Amino acid sequence: MNATIRSVGAYLPPKRVSNEDLVQKIDTSDEWIRSHTGIGSRHLAENETTSEMATAAARDALAKSDISPEDLDMVIVATSTPDYIGFPATASIVQHTIGAVRSGAFDLAAACTGFVYAMECGRGLISSGVARNVLVIGAEKLSTLVNWKDRSTCVLFGDGAGAVLLGSCDDDRGFLASRLRSDGSGAEALIVRAGGIRNPLRGQTVPEEDLYIAMDGRSVYNFAVQVNTELFEALPAEAGISIDEIKYIVPHQANVRIIKAAAKRAGIPMEKFYLNIEEYANTSAASIPIALNDLWTKGELNPGDVILTLGFGSGLTYGGQLIRL
Ligand code: ACO
Repeated sequence: MNATIRSVGAYLPPKRVSNEDLVQKIDTSDEWIRSHTGIGSRHLAENETTSEMATAAARDALAKSDISPEDLDMVIVATSTPDYIGFPATASIVQHTIGAVRSGAFDLAAACTGFVYAMECGRGLISSGVARNVLVIGAEKLSTLVNWKDRSTCVLFGDGAGAVLLGSCDDDRGFLASRLRSDGSGAEALIVRAGGIRNPLRGQTVPEEDLYIAMDGRSVYNFAVQVNTELFEALPAEAGISIDEIKYIVPHQANVRIIKAAAKRAGIPMEKFYLNIEEYANTSAASIPIALNDLWTKGELNPGDVILTLGFGSGLTYGGQLIRL
């Protein structure tokens, strides 16, 4: 038994903040942000929590399918910005709110690669016969982790959620190849130092910058270009298909420069890639399902189409999947 995508949904907060809006508050420019990242705007949550955005994306995916909440066997939420640190899982809040009364629920933390890891868990549950229908959600409220005084990181991120409903299939559709990897030697390159048990917020004073994302941009860039190039080559080879047979490559929407550099190295034309980073910026674990939702809504994803997802992020983690719809 294999698993494939039955429907896709998303939620983006209505508040849109353009680069020009940021220029009013931060020493930056539209030209710098666009030329260094490809970002033109981002959507930022105001009162919405991560579970509320995840719930809205879940409802959207369910509404586009013939599955009701009672048919779900598992809800997985990939996030680095859960409603609560530790417990309960954001996924349990979503599971209850959508009325998935027969479902299990858990969160998964693999930063920007979280959605790709969660998809693999969903596929595994279906392949093993434990589940028939799994809702895989990527949801982030990164604006809460961004240091708005650090212009090199605060311009990069946005908030939002995307959801993919996975169901079983026993034909030639499904996951054709997968790779999940981590290189923890790079853990310091993208890190929020305080708030966990190593540097708890109770009983001590922590430097303010430790509450927010700290990034070694050059290391992250080099890592991301290298692993994307690896995935472009390894996954089609493992499945025995050519890049020409892939309809869309849907990468984590971190930075257009990273994607362009990796595509150039691998000799892949940019037209193969679906990018929406200009509108939504980097929404971490939510970026791939939000991009998939764009394609789904435009009628660009049809039965038989092959897509390649590529995730990379803090950990440092990376991974991808080749999926026939
Ligand atoms: N506006 C204007 N100037 C800025 C800004 C800004 N928002 N941010 C930094 N600068 C300035 C710096 O201060 C520096 O000025 P200086 O030379 O006077 O000191 C100058 O721009 C160049 O800074 P660098 O860090 O050297 O810029 P670089 O060309 O390396 O690009 C960047 C920085 C875009 C972060 C690059 O390192 C990069 O692309 N890294 C990848 C990181 C990334 O995309 N992360 C996404 C999140 S991680 C993930 O999702 C996996």
